[in-house]
Amino acid sequence: MAKIGVIGAGSWGIALAWLLMNNGHEVTVWSVIESEIEMLKANHEHKDKLPGVKLQDDMQFTTDLEGACKDKDLLVLAVPSIYTRSTAASMKNFVKEGQLITSVAKGIEEKTLMRLSEIIEQEIPQSVVTVLCGPSHAEEVGRGLPTICAVGAKKKADAEFVQNIFSSKVFRVYTTPDMLGMELGAALKNVVALAAGMADGMGFGDNTKAALITRGMAEISRLGIAMGGHAATFSGLTGIGDLIVTCASRHSRNRMAGFLMGQGKSADEAMTEVKMVVEGVYCAKAAEKLAEKYNVEMPIVKEVNEILFNNKSPRESLTDLMMRDRKSEIGDLWT
Ligand SMILES: NC(=O)c1ccc[n+]([C@@H]2O[C@H](COP(=O)([O-])OP(=O)(O)OC[C@H]3O[C@@H](n4cnc5c(N)ncnc54)[C@H](O)[C@@H]3O)[C@@H](O)[C@H]2O)c1
Repeated sequence: MAKIGVIGAGSWGIALAWLLMNNGHEVTVWSVIESEIEMLKANHEHKDKLPGVKLQDDMQFTTDLEGACKDKDLLVLAVPSIYTRSTAASMKNFVKEGQLITSVAKGIEEKTLMRLSEIIEQEIPQSVVTVLCGPSHAEEVGRGLPTICAVGAKKKADAEFVQNIFSSKVFRVYTTPDMLGMELGAALKNVVALAAGMADGMGFGDNTKAALITRGMAEISRLGIAMGGHAATFSGLTGIGDLIVTCASRHSRNRMAGFLMGQGKSADEAMTEVKMVVEGVYCAKAAEKLAEKYNVEMPIVKEVNEILFNNKSPRESLTDLMMRDRKSEIGDLWT
């Protein structure tokens, strides 16, 4: 049995807390929002973010960040990526030397182009950061539906420690040293999911969706490999696996926001209607900047930015994507 602090009480933090309690661990969930903690204490259910998932009676809830971080075998950082830096900075003084932290959010910081694990390392230099991601919607993990993810770490022993903590008969975990590839795939798939949602919103079919998924993955892996990620990571759980689930699932808020834009709503209107943080919108600019920095062609990412920030219509973007220069699918096969 391990003592675990889950930092962040949104859908994902709550689903993972439920899973970890089922695995026999002692779990304390922290949120910055007082009313959220009061609601969780009173109902043992997050009625807004994960309705229908009854949380264990002995799960602890707190707004005391020091208490949530102290004397823990593992801290799971589960706030949305736009709050990763501020939350990590607030945790710093309560985190012991060598503390294992598992980052489970998805994003790239627009200003610095840093991955979330890098941000946590910068804000809490005494910690040892690991990453957990893969095709995993909270709504399904919270119902015990079979799910497989990957955990990344610099040291194999740390990855295996986290793997053992999360693994169960409904949640299988693989290990990998490729944190960069994992985090890049996890963050950038949200941008492609916006495009996939737009295609759905415009009434297109399975052909279009499959094309966006495969060409989207081609872009993500081109960038990821240029940045130093391993090619195989992009055909794995945190690459194509996560991209498929995000582009196809009714649970995906990025796909839903895209769907609304495909139906003619503006980005702002779509985000208001989805009511949750749409991380693909924050990540889109970062992805475009990374593409420029590493001199990698990312046409879908470019068009999503045009739609989000330059008022281009999804239909116009689609035509421009279809009418790009004619190319071979895999260039170096001809050489
Ligand atoms: N929901 C999923 O299925 C899922 C699955 C895998 C990964 N993720 C990733 O996990 C992260 C969290 O996702 P989520 O679905 O839980 O998001 P969410 O929108 O449900 O999270 C909202 C929660 O964030 C916390 N929060 C709000 N404002 C805050 C602030 N200013 N500072 C700190 N915390 C604040 C609160 O606990 C709030 O309930 C995201 O990066 C997401 O991509 C989500």
